[in-house]
Amino acid sequence: MSLTIGVPKETAAGEKRVATVPEVVEKLVKLGFAVAVESGAGDLANCSDDSYRAAGAQVVDGAAKLWAAADIVFKVRGPSQDEVGLMREGQTLISFIWPAQNPDLMQQLAARKVTVLAIDALPRVLSRAQKMDALTSQAGVAGYRAVIEAANAFGRFFNGQITAAGKVPPAKVFIAGAGVAGLAAIGTAAGLGAIVRANDTRAEVADQVVSLGGEFVKVDYEEEGSGGGGYAKVMSEGFQQAQREMYAKQAREVDIIITTALIPGKPAPRLITAEMVQSMKPGSVIVDMAAEQGGNCELTEPGQSVVKHGVTIVGYTDLVSRLAKQSSTLYATNLFRLAEELCKTKDGIINVNMEDDAIRGLTVIKDGAITWPAPPLVVAAPKPAAAAAAVPAAKKGHGHGAPSEPMAGSTLAIMFGVAAALFWFIGANAPAAFLGHFTVFVLACFVGYMVVWNVTPALHTPLMSVTNAISSIIAIGALVQIAPPLTEALSVGRPTDAIRWLAVVGIVLTAVNMFGGFAVTHRMLAMFRK
Ligand code: NAI
Repeated sequence: MSLTIGVPKETAAGEKRVATVPEVVEKLVKLGFAVAVESGAGDLANCSDDSYRAAGAQVVDGAAKLWAAADIVFKVRGPSQDEVGLMREGQTLISFIWPAQNPDLMQQLAARKVTVLAIDALPRVLSRAQKMDALTSQAGVAGYRAVIEAANAFGRFFNGQITAAGKVPPAKVFIAGAGVAGLAAIGTAAGLGAIVRANDTRAEVADQVVSLGGEFVKVDYEEEGSGGGGYAKVMSEGFQQAQREMYAKQAREVDIIITTALIPGKPAPRLITAEMVQSMKPGSVIVDMAAEQGGNCELTEPGQSVVKHGVTIVGYTDLVSRLAKQSSTLYATNLFRLAEELCKTKDGIINVNMEDDAIRGLTVIKDGAITWPAPPLVVAAPKPAAAAAAVPAAKKGHGHGAPSEPMAGSTLAIMFGVAAALFWFIGANAPAAFLGHFTVFVLACFVGYMVVWNVTPALHTPLMSVTNAISSIIAIGALVQIAPPLTEALSVGRPTDAIRWLAVVGIVLTAVNMFGGFAVTHRMLAMFRK
């Protein structure tokens, strides 16, 4: 019997998102699940009950009925006390949980004997987990919205213009912290035509800032700010002093500051002082994305937009909810990808496979037992050579077909013996030309295998599309068929007209494959260059 995914209306104040949208309901139904949505769940994200019904969901009145009907609950925010009370043994909950910050909630959920997958606990270093990375998708929306809020509060254009009515200089935007939200803000502000500068304590992001159209402003002090896993560390006093001086200079020069600086588990670093705010031009704007963690700016009031010293300081903590349709769609897609991982059999039944690194990381409670935190991952950052070496150790027995142990000498000898015998057999029996072709075929397989395994897994998809394009070399065969014979002697046994026409069709089809393959590869590689 297939399981029912239930999507309740979010109960947290000001939360406008919904955990699935009609477009994704259709895909969940194709995976074999039944979907039940609480009436009104999508209203604030522009998804009506009717649109869910049209997509194949059942719309249920009231939270109690919804939670009773659901085997798996998809939610955005962690459950409230009341919602925990509605859970029953054996149910599975997938939502943001933040286990480190919410130990009481974890205990209450465990007492209900449920299984909980915390989407915020996803091991982000696994490249195949990217599609499920809701933290990234939501921070990207927030970064975009921060720029829109800034533009809304700012009294001028972002882009420079020369019109009959006069010359308008471009706005100057400074972005503090170039993590996920910061990079999205850089791209958005640059897209609107502003001059964008950015700073981050992790020097490795400088290239990404530049590729999104920004300028990386360095702090004049030698210290590496990377704390591992793509996160920052707390900097020395000397560095902080030098950084304050640089930020003070930027504050005097720029029109808009967007701050996104954060070190997980720490209060937000205070980067913008009251004096810096005072030194900004009247009409300037600060958007403090770290407002919820105490703010990067001294004068931020969380949840509010205030004007101080002539500068608008926006401290909204609900930037993601302010773009509810977009953030819900991305979140719903992240959860759908997770559902695919949980239901590889496509029959509407889930398997919470604790042997799978991504699922293990996400699962914080399994059948009432707290399984958080997950043991640290053995697979390090996706450095091609290192990752390839680490895979066998980390995934003994359940890898992706990669050899999990070095092969024993005797096994290797037997394999060589069998291969040699096979070659001898083919050589003795097959037509002379066959052995040559067969040798080339075997070598091609070997070279292809070696090439594919030495490419970073993240690049496998572009690699597939380029090989797809290259495979269109079969067009040569078709060209040979339609070409006129070079000499009279060669015209013996020439193909008939029917074969020629078939060859023409073949060429057209392979051309689509060839040009399409290269175009897709180009687009995909462009995504990695950003
Ligand atoms: P992230 O961890 O990807 O990025 C934070 C960046 O700040 C990192 O690149 C880090 O190196 C940098 N950083 C840390 N200390 C710094 C310092 N002293 N100087 C310069 N850079 C420093 O985090 P993400 O996902 O981009 O989120 C950024 C902020 O946005 C967080 O505070 C997050 O809570 C907030 N956020 C706010 C939302 C809202 O509605 N207001 C919604 C989503 C995220």
